[in-house]
Amino acid sequence: MPAGHFISLEGIDGAGKSSHLEALAAALRASGRSVVVTREPGGTPLAEHLRKLALGEPMDALTEALLMFAARRDHLIHVIEPALARGDVVLCDRFTDATFAYQGGGRGFDRNVLGQLEAWVQAVPALAAGRLRQPDLTLWFDLAPAIAAARLAGARAPDKFESQSVAFFERVVQGYADRAQRDPGRFVRIDAEQAREAVLQDALAAVRNRGWVA
Ligand SMILES: Nc1ncnc2c1ncn2[C@@H]1O[C@H](COP(=O)(O)OP(=O)(O)OP(=O)(O)O)[C@@H](O)[C@H]1O
Ligand SMILES: [Mg+2]
Repeated sequence: MPAGHFISLEGIDGAGKSSHLEALAAALRASGRSVVVTREPGGTPLAEHLRKLALGEPMDALTEALLMFAARRDHLIHVIEPALARGDVVLCDRFTDATFAYQGGGRGFDRNVLGQLEAWVQAVPALAAGRLRQPDLTLWFDLAPAIAAARLAGARAPDKFESQSVAFFERVVQGYADRAQRDPGRFVRIDAEQAREAVLQDALAAVRNRGWVA
């Protein structure tokens, strides 16, 4: 059985994560891998309920962070961990870096508290004590907020975060940059301003470089 691989896709709203998820999944499946495509917050019935609350209702930043991590725990235990144990590839549209970027960077919430929640929630039975489940690879779709906003304009009704200001998204981008700097071996930055095909090729190259796709 092949080893499971956990790949997260990150970036601000409108950066192009969802646009490239299925093509990445198709390339992995064509290489004979079983792929689970999922998202955060969400990915289980309970976590999807929590998503609706967290994205739809105004609340203080700690409440929001607790809902995000509660959803993450349910998702990890019921979807991600079983998939990795089967040897599948998990493609996840956002994971914990998004919490650090949005709640930490965007909302200015205490990153030490987020780090404590991360340590509780991402300690899973399959890993030795002290180790946390993290993505094996994070594809960071990096795009200037003004360009992302222009791409999203008219595409759909904005949720609570999508209707935030460009300044908010500048802080989110900085939040991603901080996380990438702390974990350079896990992050691959993709220039998401490029045309779709070039973005996809860069994302595929990152997966290919790990030897996970032919
Ligand atoms: N490389 C690209 N060039 C131009 N437009 C793009 C490109 N990639 C995606 N788009 C368009 O930009 C919009 C946002 O893309 P997408 O929905 O994939 O972003 P996202 O990162 O998933 O955003 P969200 O976090 O809000 O779900 C879509 O309308 C999509 O068609
Ligand atoms: Mg999306």
